[in-house]
Amino acid sequence: MMRLVSYGQVVGSIRNALASHSSSKSSFLFLSTSSKLSQRGNKVNFQEFPDAGSESHSGQFIEKVSKPYSVTTYSRPSLILTHGKGSHIFDLENRRYIDFTAGIAVTCLGHSHEEVSKIIKDQAEKLLHCSNLYYNLPAGELARKLVTKTQEMGGMYDAARVFLCNSGTEANEAAMKFARKYGKMVGGDEKIEFITFENSFHGRSMGALSLTSNPKYQHPFAPLIPGVNVAKPNDIESVKRVLSKEKTCAVIIEPIQGEGGVNTIDSDFLIQLRQLCNENDVVLIYDEIQCGLGRTGALWAHSHLPKEAHPDIVTMAKALGNGFPIGATMITEKLEKALAVGDHGTTYGGNPLGARIGAFVVDEVSKPDFLNKVQEKSNLFFEKLSKLGQEFPEKITKVKGKGLLIGIQFKDDVDINEIVRKCRECGLLIITAGMNTIRLVPALNIPDDVINEGLAILKHCIETS
Ligand SMILES: Cc1ncc(COP(=O)(O)O)c(C=O)c1O
Repeated sequence: MMRLVSYGQVVGSIRNALASHSSSKSSFLFLSTSSKLSQRGNKVNFQEFPDAGSESHSGQFIEKVSKPYSVTTYSRPSLILTHGKGSHIFDLENRRYIDFTAGIAVTCLGHSHEEVSKIIKDQAEKLLHCSNLYYNLPAGELARKLVTKTQEMGGMYDAARVFLCNSGTEANEAAMKFARKYGKMVGGDEKIEFITFENSFHGRSMGALSLTSNPKYQHPFAPLIPGVNVAKPNDIESVKRVLSKEKTCAVIIEPIQGEGGVNTIDSDFLIQLRQLCNENDVVLIYDEIQCGLGRTGALWAHSHLPKEAHPDIVTMAKALGNGFPIGATMITEKLEKALAVGDHGTTYGGNPLGARIGAFVVDEVSKPDFLNKVQEKSNLFFEKLSKLGQEFPEKITKVKGKGLLIGIQFKDDVDINEIVRKCRECGLLIITAGMNTIRLVPALNIPDDVINEGLAILKHCIETS
């Protein structure tokens, strides 16, 4: 029988628990994953700690406080995360997890990064917000840095201008509006249609959702924006079938699809796509919200591509704020010419706090040494995961992705949610993506020993699922 307690009691007991964590480091029992792991001979045995039950602090808070007052749009395990450091994250029950999720490819420099925390404190004491009615220093600096570093680091060679906003969805909304404005300028009122791709994900607002070709997400909210056509990735004929010089204003594509299953788009296809866009005066938008900003071992996923495949617009978010909400839409001068004062705007976008964090992150993730290390860490992941693929051919069909955007595709009869649960209970956080794929998107500076420890847990959980 569940004990009936009041809201006050629940919150009071959680406050006490948290206070005892912070007042005494030693009483904060860090259950390290290594303490859950014992070795007999060559065999490693893992101890699983089931998710917190309904009697726990977490269970009580979730049932009495979180669930009754929150909209029902998420399905979540009984887990309340309280703090993190680097590639580790901790919950209310004092458990420590290795974090291969980085908040879905967001905390690229790890949790509680010292310099980011200093910037937040310092900027909060200076100026948090002043609106876009006026200029501020960090926003100008971030825009300049994005353009110049992109050109220096082999990205979009004609990058010119930046619109700052607060999320990936907003960055894509801006891209849609800029592309439409351009389409109308060069082709008249009919040149307003978009082309997107199967398994794409571009966000959940009505505009971005219209480009997210997943019936599960779209159907409950139809009708969406008309004139969106869906083509097949890596199939240029499928693009030609829906592209019209008179009607199409833009094509949007993730150079590596994240949510859709960690699917890398072929460079040859992207070169052909660019060519097709050029021939038809169609804007090419790369959504690098998940795959950009160092995740592939280059500043941009498209930095690996020749100039002939560079886009007219790049959208970004996630890693840009290392956890602080920020997004951006970077365009060429060709697009800028279509824009006029009043065409778009935002209250919070370009606020000094987010922009200052963004400028720091851009500096960090564009350092050649940092990017080389991302590549080395990626090699370690791929080497170990391909061995795992060989060990479990009856379960794993493919290891895919690039850099630290990694997918492990499983056979249809493997329950990957069960693997995710088991990993969590053994102290490792991982996520899924489309096509029965487990997705690993750790911090870009995750230490090698943490990678090894996390992969040992993953192996155990695949073996025993
Ligand atoms: C490729 C891509 N585009 C757009 C979005 C939407 O970004 P946000 O959730 O910040 O609005 C996401 C989020 O997962 C994404 O992965």
